[in-house]
Amino acid sequence: MMQRRLILALAAAGFSLIATAAAQAATLKISCGAVGQELELCKSAAEAWAKKAGHTVEVVSTPNDASERLALYQQVLGSQSDKIDVFQVDVVWPGILGSHFLDLKPYTKGVEKTHFPSMVANGSVQGKLVAMPWFIDAGLLYYRKDLLEKHGLKVPLTWEQLTDTAQKIQSAERAAGNDKMWGYVWQGRAYEGLTCNALEWVSSYGGGTIVDAAGKVSVKNPATAKALAMAASWVGTISPTAVLNYAEEESRGVFQAGNAVFMRNWPYAWSLAQRDDSPIKNKVGVAVLPKGGDAGSNAAALGGQQLAVSKYSKNAALAADLVMYMTSAEVQKERALKGSFNPTVSTLYQDKDVVAANPFMSQLAGTFASAVPRPATVTASRYNQVSNEFWNAAHEVLSRSAKPEEAVAKLDQRLNQIGRGGRWN
Ligand code: GLC
Repeated sequence: MMQRRLILALAAAGFSLIATAAAQAATLKISCGAVGQELELCKSAAEAWAKKAGHTVEVVSTPNDASERLALYQQVLGSQSDKIDVFQVDVVWPGILGSHFLDLKPYTKGVEKTHFPSMVANGSVQGKLVAMPWFIDAGLLYYRKDLLEKHGLKVPLTWEQLTDTAQKIQSAERAAGNDKMWGYVWQGRAYEGLTCNALEWVSSYGGGTIVDAAGKVSVKNPATAKALAMAASWVGTISPTAVLNYAEEESRGVFQAGNAVFMRNWPYAWSLAQRDDSPIKNKVGVAVLPKGGDAGSNAAALGGQQLAVSKYSKNAALAADLVMYMTSAEVQKERALKGSFNPTVSTLYQDKDVVAANPFMSQLAGTFASAVPRPATVTASRYNQVSNEFWNAAHEVLSRSAKPEEAVAKLDQRLNQIGRGGRWN
């Protein structure tokens, strides 16, 4: 009898041990972007964490298009679903989604101090650190070194020079039988990426940043109309009409196949252009985007991504641990080497491997430092409405369904309605 009891007790203890172990091994879901190598690199780092931590991670893939990704997130978070624990969050979203995220401060052990303060500030909403910085983006001009050299032309310093150079090389290459060649590819689809492109044109001509830092709508000026008219002149001449439906990957597809002289894109495109199987390997240069005329300035839109933990996660502490690992210097270095993602940990810019793999990161350090932010902080929860109006107005001008001045006047009206005289929230 005694013996039987002992066996039962031991069995029960054993069972509870197994049960505890099972309860401790969790499955976390992380949602990453899927542009270029984003998904692949997110997956490998998440799996490395899972292996170390003894848990399982599933990577939820999301649409390539930033605006579609936001819509999906709004749906998931709006229903307080626990389906996704960790979210990859665009730098323009903390004001829109921040209330659904956990304050990460209790989990960081102060590590955020090693990241660029501006990125930490960007991930902070009302004193809470709702998103850890992961990588920084800035709009860059990619060019074909070999084609510029062949045609005896220089890297353009102004948009006017770019238009001219693109046209010359495109015509000459086509005349020589290269009939797929285009001058310039960029992001013209009606989505967040067009907001970035159009902000660069407008800002480079001195037309402001849609809404200024004080909350005043600033689009109604001749420079904005001029910048949009210039971009519209490219459609069907140096840029294929299909550019009106291009996001990042469609433009990269054309450029990487060797069919464009210039491309506007983010840093991720560098590592892919340099891959062994890339037809343009070692033929590509990266420069700052051109100025708006001789009197204008260089303007690169500031972008980037962060990682956040959902308030509705059933494994919040583990999810925070995953975020801290994914955003660590170690993983950021790996992502810089394999995917040319600009780190947010400042010391990595002195890392010789990072610098050697990505010469543009040090050469264009100033471009990143002075990149132009979209008006997401000042318009907070209304940013997506603002951006939506802006990209629609730009798209109407590009597709010639509105004249620049008319589109700008209408945009000004709509933005003022949304902003109610500067009261954005
Ligand atoms: C990149 C940037 C992001 C931007 C998006 C637009 O993902 O990091 O900030 O909103 O492109 O397409």
